[in-house]
Amino acid sequence: MTSSSLPRTGFYSDQPWPDDKGVHINAHGGGILFHDGVYYWFGEHKISGDEAEVGVHVYASSDLYNWKDEGIALAVSEDPQSEIAKGCIIERPKVIHNARTGKFVMWFHLERKGKGRKDGVSGVAVADAPTGPYVYQRAVRPDAGVWPLNVTEQQKAGLEEAQKLLGTAFWGSPHPDRAKMDFLGRDFHGGQMAKDMTLFVDDDGAAYHVFSSEENSALHISKLSDDYLSHSGQWVRIFEYLWHEAPALFKRDGRYWMLSSHCTGWNPNTARSAVADSIWGPWTELGNPCVGATPKQKLGPALTFGGQSTHVLPVQGRPGAFIAMLDVWRPEDHIKGGYIWLPVKFEKDRYTLEWRGCWDLTVFDRPTS
Ligand code: GAL
Repeated sequence: MTSSSLPRTGFYSDQPWPDDKGVHINAHGGGILFHDGVYYWFGEHKISGDEAEVGVHVYASSDLYNWKDEGIALAVSEDPQSEIAKGCIIERPKVIHNARTGKFVMWFHLERKGKGRKDGVSGVAVADAPTGPYVYQRAVRPDAGVWPLNVTEQQKAGLEEAQKLLGTAFWGSPHPDRAKMDFLGRDFHGGQMAKDMTLFVDDDGAAYHVFSSEENSALHISKLSDDYLSHSGQWVRIFEYLWHEAPALFKRDGRYWMLSSHCTGWNPNTARSAVADSIWGPWTELGNPCVGATPKQKLGPALTFGGQSTHVLPVQGRPGAFIAMLDVWRPEDHIKGGYIWLPVKFEKDRYTLEWRGCWDLTVFDRPTS
């Protein structure tokens, strides 16, 4: 069996992944919603550059190997005045289902057209059916005027000074000059910057928006309102000045686990893992979860096998089984971006991601911890 045979019976790391029409799946920076027996994979429909020319693509599957093209879930607008006008940047879309309202809610990182990558807002869209069409609601800077639950008195006292940073543009990666700059205070009134992101729904139905903020120097975990359409005002900031991107959250045995990356743009870097007993923390970093043989020179476990995290998927019907989803970015021609999916292997107080070129769900028949 090769990666191009249909129907597919396995996962093939960073090989072309044809949909039901034989076209390489175009759902980058994506996430998966499971609803009524079907998995829905949402992701960035890439053409060649960073800009959104089409929107958010959705595919459906019942076995995770074979995906049916369900079209564009959220389309960019032809109206140049729209906040999601063609040519904006839409990244890392994630969809969750609200059991109370019956609605499907999509959040994504949005850079409105013409603002470069300095905008750092979150877009939200809503649909009545999982495949859409999603109707764009608005762009928000989360948690304006609300301090996090774990704010310090010192941070509050620094608010006036922090305002001097307003209007200053940075390039979201570590730099000695901005080692301890007060971006939290800078964005207090206008709302917090929100870039790489994920959504997580807890067992009690509460949903959380987890995003790189403060010029990527910290992660924010912000509880959404009951209808999932806004932020509740309850939030924490974690990993201050530790510069995380590409967060993915999952829960196993009552503990919260995270997979994320460093900040090196489209270039691969070392993956990061973390654990907490409460979603509000404290979160403990566990280091690089990637292990195993190096598939290609320089793209081994130290560089996440060439990938970057986007989502960790609970496998339905197999309690405790999770798949880490990684993107292999190809910024020179984004449409060629690949996917690496790996089983999450739990050890006592950590988890690992081991390189596999080809595998299937029977790996979960063998206990992983
Ligand atoms: C990455 C980020 C991607 C995209 C890219 C742009 O670090 O994870 O989602 O924003 O930077 O350079």
